[in-house]
Amino acid sequence: MNDLLRGAMFFSCFLPSFTRLGYASRKWLWPQQELDFGGQRWVVTGATGGIGYEIARQAAAHGAEVHAVARSAEKLAEMEAALEGKIVRHVADLSLISEVMSTANHIADDLPHVDVLVNNVGLMLNERQTTSEGLEQGFATNVLGHFALTEALRSHERLAQGIVINMSSGGMYNVPMTLERLQGGEDYDGMLTYAYQKRAQVLLNSWWRQEGLNSYVMHPGWVDTPGVETAMPDFHKMTNAVLRDTAAGADTAVWLAATKPAQVKPEGIWFDRKLRREHVFPNTRDGRDGAALVGYLDNAFGEATRDPQEKSQQSSAA
Ligand SMILES: NC(=O)c1ccc[n+]([C@@H]2O[C@H](COP(=O)([O-])OP(=O)(O)OC[C@H]3O[C@@H](n4cnc5c(N)ncnc54)[C@H](OP(=O)(O)O)[C@@H]3O)[C@@H](O)[C@H]2O)c1
Repeated sequence: MNDLLRGAMFFSCFLPSFTRLGYASRKWLWPQQELDFGGQRWVVTGATGGIGYEIARQAAAHGAEVHAVARSAEKLAEMEAALEGKIVRHVADLSLISEVMSTANHIADDLPHVDVLVNNVGLMLNERQTTSEGLEQGFATNVLGHFALTEALRSHERLAQGIVINMSSGGMYNVPMTLERLQGGEDYDGMLTYAYQKRAQVLLNSWWRQEGLNSYVMHPGWVDTPGVETAMPDFHKMTNAVLRDTAAGADTAVWLAATKPAQVKPEGIWFDRKLRREHVFPNTRDGRDGAALVGYLDNAFGEATRDPQEKSQQSSAA
């Protein structure tokens, strides 16, 4: 299918549902819910902006101790002031696996358990960028960093009673799981690469569920955030009158944490408080192999965390 046709199908399928129109049409059916996260410990990544900020804000407002992870110390300090000191700050560049791991270790040292881990951080790039650890930046941030943080907290037994909420995107409906596309290719297409990464999050979530972790994957719809405005300025200009606000974008995450709904099958993606199918188009069903994805992530983790001296010796020998 060519890109134009795929784009037209995608927008005609999802435009009303993913915007504030879809949210408004469903919201009135939901019962009123009193939120109480008192005594809970949350970890929210990408917490200083957009949807992550709103999730962290609501969790803190309803009593949780929120560990907010983001790369800007200044924005974290502003956030702490705005939320009247109700967060614990963690500065980390979550595209760097070494920083993800040191954050995970700090959190594991500080907390006996984590009630809610929100793997929210994510970005779409327009040009290929490589981290200092040698990975495509979107892959490192959107997939491998989530995997590393979750697995580290799991290995420290900090998630035994907790839940994990993974923030994917409806963009994943466009593509099948394809390991070879997770870090883009030579013909780098940022939007498509992002879609493959978001598809990988959905598969990783079902693998985690099969492993016994109470993990959910969701998408927020189309939300007016700094990330959308920067990565997709034309889309933002065309649609901003109907984009959701961040409260609507955060709604399903907060509801999942408050409700912890049973999920019998490992497959599916939550959106507007309901488990939805993870495929809409027939050509996206191939490649569904969780063990292969985890093998790929383990290798990428090894590559990213390998001793830099060893890496440079190997590349000069090649
Ligand atoms: N907005 C939407 O319509 C939409 C739709 C589908 C899915 N999503 C998903 O929802 C999640 C949140 O999106 P958003 O639109 O709210 O994003 P956003 O506005 O760009 O906010 C992202 C947050 O993550 C932080 N961040 C980015 N890269 C980081 C890094 N390497 N290390 C540490 N922190 C980093 C940002 O900090 P800085 O301010 O320092 O950059 C910011 O706090 C993402 O996973 C996204 O893919 C969003």
